[in-house]
Amino acid sequence: MKALYLKTYGCQMNVYDSARIADVLAPLGYVQTDTPEGADIAILNTCHIREKAAEKVYSELGKLKKLKQARMRAGAVMTIAVAGCVAQAEGAEILRRQDAVDLVVGPQSYHRLPEMIAKLARAGGQVLEADFPAEQKFDSLPAPTQTKVSAFLTVQEGCDKFCSFCVVPYTRGAEFSRPSMKIVEEARRLVDLGAREITLLGQNVNAYRHETTDLARLLRALAEIKDLKRLRYTTSHPRDMSDDLIDAHRDLDALMPYLHLPVQSGSDAVLDAMNRQHTADDYRRIVERVREARPDIALSSDFIVGFPGETDEDFEATLALVGEIGYAQAFSFKYSRRAGTPASAARKQVAETTKAQRLEALQALLDRQQKSFNRACEGRALPVLFEKPGRRDGQAVGRSPYLQAVHVDGAASLIGQIRQVRIAEAQSNSLKGELLP
Ligand code: SAH
Ligand code: SF4
Ligand code: F3S
Repeated sequence: MKALYLKTYGCQMNVYDSARIADVLAPLGYVQTDTPEGADIAILNTCHIREKAAEKVYSELGKLKKLKQARMRAGAVMTIAVAGCVAQAEGAEILRRQDAVDLVVGPQSYHRLPEMIAKLARAGGQVLEADFPAEQKFDSLPAPTQTKVSAFLTVQEGCDKFCSFCVVPYTRGAEFSRPSMKIVEEARRLVDLGAREITLLGQNVNAYRHETTDLARLLRALAEIKDLKRLRYTTSHPRDMSDDLIDAHRDLDALMPYLHLPVQSGSDAVLDAMNRQHTADDYRRIVERVREARPDIALSSDFIVGFPGETDEDFEATLALVGEIGYAQAFSFKYSRRAGTPASAARKQVAETTKAQRLEALQALLDRQQKSFNRACEGRALPVLFEKPGRRDGQAVGRSPYLQAVHVDGAASLIGQIRQVRIAEAQSNSLKGELLP
C-alpha cells in the first residue's frame, strides 16, 4: 500500500477530476490520506482562473518540498506532482521554478498517470505531460469506485466561447461532449455505489451535445434512473439556455429548482468587451422564461467587478440588475489580469482600490439577498437530502432543493435519505431545522 495525498483547488470539475485521479491510481496500490506527511505521492490539482489561485500553488509546493527533503533524509521517497489548470498553463515554468516537482500533468492526460509514474521510477528526472492527446481521457479512465451521496459527473469539458478575461479555453481546450450512453452508464454506477444526487458538470454544461442528444434530453434520460433522486447541472452560459432545457425545469421532478447562470456584469458595454455575446436584457428575458417554467427556481450567478474600462455607471448597471433579479446565492470577484487573454492587454485597467470598493458594495447587496432568501424559508417544510454527519455529534447535514445546507439533530442513518424538514432558523450560510415525522 502507498499513501496518496491529493489536494484540490478551483471548481467542481477539479473535484470530479481528483476522484478520477484517485480511481486511476487505486489499482497501483495508492490509498488516499488526509495529510501530506508520510505521503508517497502528493498531487496538487490546481486552478489558474485568477492570479491568487495560481499563486497558492507555489507556496504549497514550497511546503511540500520541505516534507520531501525530510522524507529523503529518512531514506524514503516522495513524488510531487502538479495537475490541473496551472499544470496546463505553466507546466514548464513549474518545473523550472520548483525543482522538487517530479511530475506535471494537464487535465486531459490523467489516464496517463500510471505510465508517467512508471517512467519516473525507471528514468528519474522530471516528467511533463500537457498535450491534448489524441486518445480521449474519458475512454481510458476506469469506472468510478467510490462516491458521495451527492456526486459530480463531467459530461462536457472545454470551452469555445473565449470570454476576453478567461483562461479556461486555453487550460481545458476545445469544447468536447461525452457520449450520452457513457454518461448514463456512469450515472447508474454512481447510484449503485450510493449516490442519490448527481450534478452534471461542464465548463459550458448547457452547450452539451452528442449526436442528437442535448442537455435537456440527457437530463430526461437520467431522470429515469431508479434511486437517482436529484439532478443538477453547472455551469451554464446564458447563450445556451435553450427552450427545451427550460422546459425540462418544468417537466422533471428530479431536476432541482436551482440554476447557476453567470451574468458577470449588468452593463452592455462591459458584456460586449467581455465577449459574452449577450446583453443584460437577453439575460433578463431568459430568467423570466425560466421562472415561468419553474416559479420557485433559485438563481445564482458569477460577477466580475473592475473589468477593464468599467465605469461607475457600468457598475451601477450591475447593481441594478442584481436588484431586479434577486439571487439566492452568488460568487463575485475582482477582475484578475491573466496573461495571454485579450482583456489583460487592455489599456484602461481599473484601479485596485476601485475594484475593492465595488466588490464590497456588490457583495453587501448579494449578501442581503441571500439572507432574505434564507429567511423566507423559515417556517416552511423542505425536502432535504442528507449527505453527511454534522460537525457536532448527533447532527446530520443535507441540502434543500435550493442547495442550502440544512442542519438537523439526527442520526447517521439519515444519510442518503430525503426527509421533510421544518426550517426553524436561517443562519448566515445555512438553515437549521427539525425532522418531520
Ligand atoms: N465556465 C464557467 C465558469 C468559469 S470560471 C462559466 O462560463 O461561467 C468561474 C468564474 O470565475 C467566472 O464565471 C468568472 O466570474 C470568474 N472569472 C473567470 N476569469 C476571471 C478573471 N480573469 N478575473 C476574475 N474573475 C474571473
Ligand atoms: Fe470562461 Fe467564458 Fe468559457 Fe465560461 S464561457 S469558461 S467564462 S471563456
Ligand atoms: Fe480553475 Fe481550471 Fe476550474 S482554471 S475554475 S480549475 S477549469
